[in-house]
Amino acid sequence: MCGIVGYIGKKDTSKILLDGLKDLEYRGYDSAGIAILQNSKFDIFKAVGKIANLEEKINLQYCLPCSTKETISLGIGHTRWATHGKPTELNAHPHLGEYSYVVHNGIIENYKELKEELTFAGHKFVSQTDTEVIVHLFEYYNNKLNDPKASFAKTVERLEGAYSILLITKSEPETIYFMKHGSPLIVAKGKEEGEVLFASSDSPLIGLSDAVVYLEDGVMGIASTTAITFNQEVSWGTLPSSKQFAQKDGFRFFMEKEIYEQSDVVTDAMLGRLKDNGIDFDEIDPSIIDGINEIKICACGTSYHAGLTSSYLFERLAKVRTSVEIASEFRYKEPLLTPDTLFIVISQSGETADTLEALKMAKAAGLKSIAICNVDNSSMTRVADATILTRAGIEKGVASTKAFSTQTVVLWMLGLYFAKVRGVMESDKLASELLALRETPKALKVFDHIHEKTKRLSKRYLHGHGFFFIGRDVFFPLALEGALKLKEISYLHAEGYPAGEMKHGPIALADPELFTIALMPQNLLYDKIKSNVEELSARDSTICAISPLAFDLADDFIKTNSADHYMLEFFEMLVAIQLLSMEISVRLGNDVDMPRNLAKSVTVE
Ligand code: M6R
Repeated sequence: MCGIVGYIGKKDTSKILLDGLKDLEYRGYDSAGIAILQNSKFDIFKAVGKIANLEEKINLQYCLPCSTKETISLGIGHTRWATHGKPTELNAHPHLGEYSYVVHNGIIENYKELKEELTFAGHKFVSQTDTEVIVHLFEYYNNKLNDPKASFAKTVERLEGAYSILLITKSEPETIYFMKHGSPLIVAKGKEEGEVLFASSDSPLIGLSDAVVYLEDGVMGIASTTAITFNQEVSWGTLPSSKQFAQKDGFRFFMEKEIYEQSDVVTDAMLGRLKDNGIDFDEIDPSIIDGINEIKICACGTSYHAGLTSSYLFERLAKVRTSVEIASEFRYKEPLLTPDTLFIVISQSGETADTLEALKMAKAAGLKSIAICNVDNSSMTRVADATILTRAGIEKGVASTKAFSTQTVVLWMLGLYFAKVRGVMESDKLASELLALRETPKALKVFDHIHEKTKRLSKRYLHGHGFFFIGRDVFFPLALEGALKLKEISYLHAEGYPAGEMKHGPIALADPELFTIALMPQNLLYDKIKSNVEELSARDSTICAISPLAFDLADDFIKTNSADHYMLEFFEMLVAIQLLSMEISVRLGNDVDMPRNLAKSVTVE
């Protein structure tokens, strides 16, 4: 988590750092800070909360007389998602030692031992962060060796965990030390002579650079106006030429805009892949499925829900045994991995630390792998054997919406692709699946009456002691997704549950204060889910049915359109639960796009 930026050059350093941090705000917004070194003097700004707070502070306090420059200055900046220590100014980066500053993304796992050792050696700590040990460790070595380069190398040698680091020292006004291990970091040559930039992802660099290195783990180096040196060979590449800034385009929130965009972006996700007689993925070789007896999917959060949905589809359509794992669980369970398993990771960002590490584990065990990602050039796309991009476009809302719908469509297509390659699907069945896929953009359209209904329901569904989203088959992962959406932006307790499992315990909670959101598709197990909902209704739970079919016992009803494939119903219901969560969050006055305690990209385990 967290985003870091760095700059060396003659331009307005504070502006470049601030602009970069704004692009990285999705990585965390608990606090932000920058350190600028110019004329042998450090200027430091820190603020709790979003980048706008930092910007305000800088605008009030900092005039850049000295930066009407022909002078070189340098700076580092950070936007934080708190892991160690509360989101206070004291814990905000950059962290200072005696004469150097550091910004860090990741977690130093052995920071307690290091802190003890350094405290014993006389170093004074002011924050509760793990990061502060880095700058003290560096100074500890440098005080002995008087050699910053060797001291930086010795420092990173002692660090355990995941980190990308930028470090600057007062005595070297044109130098940034950097290291990448586990968390992403990109180094870029600026367009002007001698200019150097750093960022955690490529968006802050677009337009400012034509030559970048996406650093691999273990790469460290020193950047200055005269040279960028690395401890190993690196390959320089280019960036996309234009930055598509996500704008709200008249919507109240990015989340709302992204819900409305789903219909278009799934069309993009299908473009060139959905053919008249089947599915084609240029990105993968059909032989990837040769000798495969099992598919294992690994992901986190919403992406995990897309994976769980696809496990039903892979088994049903492609007849391949499929299991799904939460990446953080998978990593430490000592999984039995055999090379006849195809490993699929799903991630919007392509940077989620647990998913990335799971992918590396699978690769090390000799498994073939596919990454289903939204962000091209992200870490996962560079590790996996093949990548299928979901083409959702930039997703700014922390609560994933269009990432989920595009992932699910891509995975559905992948199931059909495998079915065809394996020769396990009759042609008329394939034809009807393709027909349904073509209808997906329609199913994801936001209808005014549905949006209005969710607005009205949000008045009522605010209090009570919790929500159950229930469904069966693929509607169970959809129920999980509905509950996650509601939790993360409304801060209300919600659970997703398999409808048939309620009677094995949770039904004990049923009373009028328990809101049940029942996903009741017409085309899949309707009678079964109906009985489950009747059981809840008999125990006085308040029921909101989402279904094309009216249901007498429901207290409230969101009527979806009739469709003749359950996946089309799935997408219609997805839109309804996304809107309902959003409207409840609006009603509660929460920050819909940047809910508390969360970050868009989770690059710590
Ligand atoms: O970038 P990823 O898809 O790997 O992210 C995984 C989760 O952190 C993410 O899906 C999270 O659960 C969403 N913000 C939920 O809306």
